[in-house]
Amino acid sequence: MYLSGTVDEGKRGVVVWNSYHNGTKTVTADATTSLSRSLTRKVETVSMLRREVAGWRSRHETVALVPTMGSLHPGHLALVEEGRRRCRRLVVSIFVNPKQFGPNEDFARYPRRIPEDIEKLAAIGVDLVFLPSVDEMFPNGFATTVKVNLLSDDLCGLSRPSHFPGVATVVTKLLMQCQPDVVLLGEKDYQQLQVVRALVRDLDIPVTVVAVPTVREPDGLAMSSRNDFLGESERQVATRFAAVLVTVSARLTAGEPVLEALDWGRRELDNLGVNTLEYLELRDAATLLPVDALRSESRLLAAVRIGPTRLIDNLLVAPVG
Ligand code: PAJ
Repeated sequence: MYLSGTVDEGKRGVVVWNSYHNGTKTVTADATTSLSRSLTRKVETVSMLRREVAGWRSRHETVALVPTMGSLHPGHLALVEEGRRRCRRLVVSIFVNPKQFGPNEDFARYPRRIPEDIEKLAAIGVDLVFLPSVDEMFPNGFATTVKVNLLSDDLCGLSRPSHFPGVATVVTKLLMQCQPDVVLLGEKDYQQLQVVRALVRDLDIPVTVVAVPTVREPDGLAMSSRNDFLGESERQVATRFAAVLVTVSARLTAGEPVLEALDWGRRELDNLGVNTLEYLELRDAATLLPVDALRSESRLLAAVRIGPTRLIDNLLVAPVG
């Protein structure tokens, strides 16, 4: 038997809770706030978030934060479950951050599914969902940008110059607002992960960054909210995109020179029918600087456009022995 549920802001005192058994919702009943320890609360303001976290801190409870933009799929939920294992208290933020979308990007049509998201989070036993508005996060007069130089201008930063500063700014704010012990991020967005690791190091933010491996569809495509935008034939191209990365990685591990393996991969991706191959690169796994031979742990990273949809993926490539 597993207890979870949701409490609406302003309805403290009487809360609705759900009882889950074998993953099936079996009971809905009223309860009092005495149950709130096992319930998922929603807050929309920084001050409410701080009040909740301060209560946990006063009892010396550890806190994990999973920042998201919502529309949650099993990839996100893997982060949430890892956070659940690592800390006594778990906060998930859902905020579609306008600052990380370029002027012609998909901010307006980015999927928003808050009620479904909250149900999924309640089922995992998340303590708090933080749902700030754009005004709460970036009130009039907001004038600060956090930018990790160099790392932000390469790879995805070449075609999306404002993206990583937008991510770094909002993640820094979320870390200052929540002050968690642990923040969980997906390897799916590997450059983002390295940007956050860099800002945490450079700004002396006292948090442990935990990376969670990419969760994939059965056919190998990395799960992403943007996969929903793919038509049927585009979805097949996306599967082959993921498969090309696996083959390039195998060729590199087998000893093929880096330039030859990358050239082969770029030709394959061109032949697949991706609209644009933005990049296919082998980089040092920590610095993301180019590598000309597979000497240490490296990362194969790629970005393509399939139809109007931009997809990214990456794989660890390590020398054998
Ligand atoms: P979003 O795309 O919602 O992703 C939230 C987190 O889930 C990120 O850390 C991302 O790497 C991880 N994630 C997404 N798909 C995954 C998959 N298939 N497997 C494992 N992890 C996956 O990334 C963002 O939001 C934003 O940039 C954010 C960090 C919230 C800042 O706005």
